[in-house]
Amino acid sequence: MFRLSDHNDLFSRRCVLVNGPVIVGAGPSGLAVGACLKEQGVPFVVLERADCIASLWQKRTYDRLKLHLPKQFCQLPKLPFPEDFPEYPTKKQFIDYLESYAKKFEISPKFNECVQSAKYDETCGLWRVKTVNTSGGTRSEVEYLSRCLVVATGENAESFLPEIDGLSEFKGHVIHASGYKCGEDYTGKKVLVVGCGNSGMEVCLDLCNHNAFPSMVVRSSVHVLPREFLGRSTFELAVTMMKWLPLWMVDKLMLIMSWLVLGNIENYGIKRPSMGPLALKNVEGKTPVLDIGALHKIKSGDINVVSGIKRFSRNGVELNNGETMDVDSVVLATGYRSNVPSWLQETDFFSKNGIPKTPFPNGWKGKLGLYAVGFTRKGLSGASSDAVKIAQDIGKVWKEETQQRKQTKACHRRCISQF
Ligand SMILES: Cc1cc2nc3c(=O)[nH]c(=O)nc-3n(C[C@H](O)[C@H](O)[C@H](O)COP(=O)(O)OP(=O)(O)OC[C@H]3O[C@@H](n4cnc5c(N)ncnc54)[C@H](O)[C@@H]3O)c2cc1C
Ligand SMILES: NC(=O)c1ccc[n+]([C@@H]2O[C@H](COP(=O)([O-])OP(=O)(O)OC[C@H]3O[C@@H](n4cnc5c(N)ncnc54)[C@H](OP(=O)(O)O)[C@@H]3O)[C@@H](O)[C@H]2O)c1
Repeated sequence: MFRLSDHNDLFSRRCVLVNGPVIVGAGPSGLAVGACLKEQGVPFVVLERADCIASLWQKRTYDRLKLHLPKQFCQLPKLPFPEDFPEYPTKKQFIDYLESYAKKFEISPKFNECVQSAKYDETCGLWRVKTVNTSGGTRSEVEYLSRCLVVATGENAESFLPEIDGLSEFKGHVIHASGYKCGEDYTGKKVLVVGCGNSGMEVCLDLCNHNAFPSMVVRSSVHVLPREFLGRSTFELAVTMMKWLPLWMVDKLMLIMSWLVLGNIENYGIKRPSMGPLALKNVEGKTPVLDIGALHKIKSGDINVVSGIKRFSRNGVELNNGETMDVDSVVLATGYRSNVPSWLQETDFFSKNGIPKTPFPNGWKGKLGLYAVGFTRKGLSGASSDAVKIAQDIGKVWKEETQQRKQTKACHRRCISQF
């Protein structure tokens, strides 16, 4: 039985009893789970806040973006990339692949459905997932009720905008990297790029290619690795070496390879972390930069490396080392955050930062029918691995229950509303 307050709430919005799991998010992770569930014969509903699949890729990435890992590490389960795709597919090719993936597995997400809250109702043994849809100028609310909830909202759900002293006084243009498309509008301008992850490095490179003058803020340290070593993907080499060698040794070899290809990056103002690149990724989730040309521009002085920011002024910035600079525009390449804590009312499985507490490869299954896909800090390959396991687990229970239902004559399930 529902409590009275819940009961009133239940009838104030449209309720949908979902046959099978609810998947929140129609990015690569949500699509991968959907495809694997199709194969298991399990029905599901995908809820997506945007009006398209893979909204991160379609709406919040820059034009020159390519996958930075070789394609075999980025394809989703059950459908390889087309053979004519290059080793590092472009953003457009990746989106085309995802569109054909959704089509092949007949995945039709419910778009413009932003999940506001989800909680497990012990009285009815169901997840209650509330959404708001504000498309077309009207607001509608729906509550989905389901035995299983698959969280697929991604590690990069929200742009992270740090609070920096004086930024609101700065009179130039400020944008997060998720809104940056191309350097065309910045020609001839002095641009401060805050952050030196893969986004910060590539935005700087793009700005150089459009004759802008980027300065990149490196406030702490970062590992920069060449994307390739002797014609082979560095990532692939690391994966191969990990089969035979301990992680610390692979890290050492990665650093030697980097030194051979890139030289000593500390000569250019980029400090390396004391922990090796793979260890750091495992422990702190910090991704190494795979260099695709920015380092060359740093060496040539086209990208100016600067220290952390003390404060912004109307026309520029004061750095931690006391230096001041005039700046026309700022690009905050300061990363992303998971948004799970803002809507999932659950604290056992997910930590405060919106990532499952249990690390890969065991962070895909919680209690009471809760699952998480794509929070492995291992990119698309980690998401694919989660998706396969989740679908197998749900499929097993589904088959057992379907078998039982077939053996029971009467069915007393009440469907509140259906699509
Ligand atoms: C610039 C950039 C480049 C990258 N390049 C690579 C790469 O080359 N290789 C790699 O392996 N990884 C890369 N990544 C990591 C990237 O996160 C993954 O590639 C991939 O997008 C993860 O898929 P996902 O489905 O888990 O998350 P997302 O792609 O973020 O999809 C999550 C979906 O959930 C939706 N959503 C979020 N909150 C809600 C809500 N409350 N209600 C409903 N829907 C919601 C979002 O709109 C989104 O469509 C890159 C990331 C960035 C930012
Ligand atoms: N396919 C591709 O080529 C590609 C391209 C772009 C991104 N990606 C992926 O997308 C994900 C996000 O990458 P990202 O580069 O956007 O984010 P990121 O790796 O999280 O890097 C964020 C950067 O911002 C800095 N930063 C944050 N707050 C700051 C502040 N207040 N002042 C100064 N610096 C600050 C961080 O510095 P600290 O380290 O000191 O915190 C860090 O250098 C990663 O997984 C990445 O691999 C892939």
